[in-house]
Amino acid sequence: MSELILVLDEGTTSTRAMLFGLDGKFHGSAQQEITQHYPKAGWVEHDAGEIWERTLACAREVVEQAGGADRIACIGITNQRETVVAWDRNTGMPLARAIVWQDRRTAEFCAQLRDDGHEDDVQRRTGLLLDPYFSGTKMRWLLDNEPAVRSAAKAGTLAFGTIESWLTYKLTGGPDSGAHVTDASNASRTLLLELGGADFDDGLCELLGVPRAALPRVIDNAGELGVAREDMLGAAIPITGMAGDQQAATIGQACLTPGETKATYGTGAFVLTNKGGEIPTSDNRLLGTVLYQLAGARTYAIEGSVFVAGSLVQWLRDSLGIVEVASQTEELARSVEDTGGVTIVPALAGLGAPHWNAEARGVITGLSFHSGKAELARAALEAMAHQTHDLATAFAADGARWETLKIDGGMSANDWMAQDLADVLNLPVERPEFVETTALGAAMLAAVGAGLHPDLATAGKEMRGTLSRFSPNMEDGVRQERLARWRKALSAA
Ligand code: G3P
Repeated sequence: MSELILVLDEGTTSTRAMLFGLDGKFHGSAQQEITQHYPKAGWVEHDAGEIWERTLACAREVVEQAGGADRIACIGITNQRETVVAWDRNTGMPLARAIVWQDRRTAEFCAQLRDDGHEDDVQRRTGLLLDPYFSGTKMRWLLDNEPAVRSAAKAGTLAFGTIESWLTYKLTGGPDSGAHVTDASNASRTLLLELGGADFDDGLCELLGVPRAALPRVIDNAGELGVAREDMLGAAIPITGMAGDQQAATIGQACLTPGETKATYGTGAFVLTNKGGEIPTSDNRLLGTVLYQLAGARTYAIEGSVFVAGSLVQWLRDSLGIVEVASQTEELARSVEDTGGVTIVPALAGLGAPHWNAEARGVITGLSFHSGKAELARAALEAMAHQTHDLATAFAADGARWETLKIDGGMSANDWMAQDLADVLNLPVERPEFVETTALGAAMLAAVGAGLHPDLATAGKEMRGTLSRFSPNMEDGVRQERLARWRKALSAA
């Protein structure tokens, strides 16, 4: 009997396949790292061939763990968003390295578009800002700079897609029978989709210089979205759910009614507030985005995207050697009373919301001979609350004040950080026992798409587990001192 949901969760640093039951129970996973290529300062690339091979290998491993493909009812896909793959429809092979969401190489093109006065109109139509983060300018860069991409465009064989699009194309048969599709949540991150438009917009494609013919078809987030061919996993399995990872996490946290808010602390930190059917607007440099589309009807969210969260701890581990494993930061943070005045602004990939400064770079202030590993580790964790506080201020100014913050993502397992968030935000913070809500959200979508649960609200009720709660417990003077120190450091970034 097919009773399991296979989720492919392709993140920035690793790809995973996970198995869920219809009750949300986790039944196993396989994971492989993704190689990060940094060819120049500010550039970040992935090998799309590697992403596909490793994702397929993980999927095959968990299908075996499940006892065979017959036990898998459906597939859900969730992915790092905005990362662009260019491939050839004739060969099914990538034409260049994928340009990753963190990549800043199109900063100049974005500045030029801003100088030409396009930002207000683009923001009004797409909900996004002219920042290199989004996919559209990355596509244009590939056309301008990669001869293979340009010739495929001339020959009419070029396909552009974000990661869910690439994986779906490969799973459904590549050059033979592959579907070239993207779900509405990922499409809303390209700068090429109007928030209210059913498909990519010709005028926006023209503005960015992206050929309409190379783009995928925009589809729902759940339903019969494609079928993974039998030779992939051992049986033909329907793909019934698909969403960008931050939208999937919002669903996985059951933020299904307007006003509900989640923050995911993964590679970056992404806060989304459900806005229902209302197209979101922001006066405070937040983003409007599609949360999901079901039977053509959209639910939207307002988003604050912070580029560096867990990747800061990774940097402490891999580049500075301050910790051996990320979880040691908790013990180090607890081992001291405070950071001794050390403040880290993690602008290692520029600053995202609400500052949007592509040229900003990381800063550590307040160092003294007293500063050691513990102070630096604690300052790195404190930076998460500081960055989130900046978002809270912007959301409130946009009329979307948070009541409670539902946190998730690998880094949220850190109890010290969870309590610090509650303290600095002065808000109750909730964390599910199972923090991989991105994958759970994709499983919920897939279950609904396959008709195994009637709607997302039921899927949420049936599939979500228990919660831990963190209540604010910090004197206001301490909070204000922390925030003043942060603001001072920020001005140096
Ligand atoms: O927008 C980028 C985001 O989708 C990346 O997510 O999970 O790799 O931090 P993550």
